[in-house]
Amino acid sequence: MKFSQYFRYDGEHCSEEKPQRGVLKTLYRKVKIPWVLLIIGAIFAVFNSIVILTQFENYNAIFSGALTSLDPLWQYLAASFIQYVLIFASILTDIALVTIVTGVRKKLWKKIVRLPLSDFETESPNGMLSRITSDAEYAAKPFSAVIAILQIALYILSLGAAAPKDLPQALVFLIITLILAVASIIVSVRVVAKATTLVQSRISVLTNHYSEQLANIKFVKASNAERKAIDKSNLLIETRYKAALYNAFATGLQTLANNFTYVIIYSCAFLGGIVAIAAGAINDTAPISSVYAFGMALELTLVAIMTLPSYFASTVGGSKKLATILTMPEENVSDGGAMPDQTGDIRFADATFAYEEKPVIDGVSTVIPAGKVTAIVGANGSGKSTIAKLIDRLYPLGGGSLMIGEADAKSVSLQAWRARIGVVSQSPALFAGTIRDNIRYGTDREISDSEWDAVIAASNLSSVLAAHAGGLDCVVGIDGTGLSGGEQQRVAIARAMLKDPQILILDEATANLDPKTEAEVKDGLHNLMQNRTVVEIAHSASAIKDADYVIVLDKGRIAASGTPEELQKTSLFYQKLQQKA
Ligand SMILES: Nc1ncnc2c1ncn2[C@@H]1O[C@H](COP(=O)(O)OP(=O)(O)OP(=O)(O)O)[C@@H](O)[C@H]1O
Ligand SMILES: [Mg+2]
Repeated sequence: MKFSQYFRYDGEHCSEEKPQRGVLKTLYRKVKIPWVLLIIGAIFAVFNSIVILTQFENYNAIFSGALTSLDPLWQYLAASFIQYVLIFASILTDIALVTIVTGVRKKLWKKIVRLPLSDFETESPNGMLSRITSDAEYAAKPFSAVIAILQIALYILSLGAAAPKDLPQALVFLIITLILAVASIIVSVRVVAKATTLVQSRISVLTNHYSEQLANIKFVKASNAERKAIDKSNLLIETRYKAALYNAFATGLQTLANNFTYVIIYSCAFLGGIVAIAAGAINDTAPISSVYAFGMALELTLVAIMTLPSYFASTVGGSKKLATILTMPEENVSDGGAMPDQTGDIRFADATFAYEEKPVIDGVSTVIPAGKVTAIVGANGSGKSTIAKLIDRLYPLGGGSLMIGEADAKSVSLQAWRARIGVVSQSPALFAGTIRDNIRYGTDREISDSEWDAVIAASNLSSVLAAHAGGLDCVVGIDGTGLSGGEQQRVAIARAMLKDPQILILDEATANLDPKTEAEVKDGLHNLMQNRTVVEIAHSASAIKDADYVIVLDKGRIAASGTPEELQKTSLFYQKLQQKA
């Protein structure tokens, strides 16, 4: 089960795989649970229920006309006041629940960021994140469910004590007809639970849609596709609207079912009372009031019980889903040996790899010589970027082996391995923040002024910094917005320079740039490539003209390899590439 499968979005629907069972305890392991607050909150909640129950006796005393003294009124007012104080005190429970959600949220992100890359293959990150932020809310629900159960237990206990003995005929009516009421409440509760799930899934679909559209808003405009974007949005909003309508009906039905029980309670008390008075069994209204008060307490209990299943359906279900994510295996970045200081050739021996079932790298054996520039060329989809990711161990090999010098990928820790490798790809990963923070991303050490100066000069960044107020401290937006493609690329080059890796992977680092910008970026790249093992993935002959060695990939296999001069003679693909230049 992959993490992303929980959030699969196909442009119309979000599917949710059924989570595995029995993992609830994982959710709270290592999360600080504010037990004291929770217990105090629970005591207050239970106390509040007691006060509510005493109120029925006060109503009873007031309504039965036995107001020879003002005591029931004072008691009613005092109880009401206490109730208000207790309701306010429920803020303690809320604080406790928010604390739990916060703890789970932290734990969840810590987990997600450590999941292997293969878990993220198919999904839009925005869609996933909207789910993650809302799903974390579920973590608190089982605790509130426990408090609700405590209250229910109390209602049930007090019901037994409060059952009126004087009007058995009314009680019989009451019990029988309440069974009907329970049935109607069950139905309404089910409908409400279904409506809630429906609304949640529709919201999820909408969020996915908007995040995708907003991320590509430039392209939407460039394609004159505003109308299409609006139509699709309208369609999804319509389905969201239908879900909301269904939800409104469901809530209405639930209100009706609840009110139905009131009608039953009143009718039974009155009917039972009328029958009893006519038969001369009673001669005042007190027993009638007590049937009424009992009915109200019974109704309170039933509603509390009946809403519990829907509570569990959405909350415990959500919690389980969270817990399942939390049990997914993490990438272990720290276990394993250190990298020897001395680097060496990168060697693949009979390496295989598949993203899903389809093999993408199919028995590759090759040597990428240390300290040289090796170009990897090949048609789209031939597996070039995949080779780059395998070198960086973003994915484990399916079979075969990978070595850097004497170091075997199987025995060196991921952290130590990746520390030796720098990547500059087609689209640099920039984050909201200053240019400085973007450049030193991934570097923990102090950087001296002279080192900054050297990096800026070598990555050809001076003109970029001059063009942006604040220079290194200029703040860029999410994904580096505010910087042009070439500027972003130079920031990425400066970042790789600070990292100073022994192995540098360039995955079409200049592919998106116009010739003038490419020339500016190339200077920086050229400086970056000095004294490293360089793996350069390229489409054009010009990009590989400086290569010492070339590997031609074809459908995940090595079609040819050798020096450019050798390939000029032997590889048809290489010859064609040269002709296009
Ligand atoms: N995340 C992924 N999940 C599933 N399949 C993938 C994934 N990434 C790539 N592939 C598939 O693996 C194959 C190799 O992809 P890769 O990105 O390595 O090709 P490439 O040689 O870099 O192509 P290009 O020149 O277009 O960049 C392709 O068939 C592609 O469809
Ligand atoms: Mg590629």
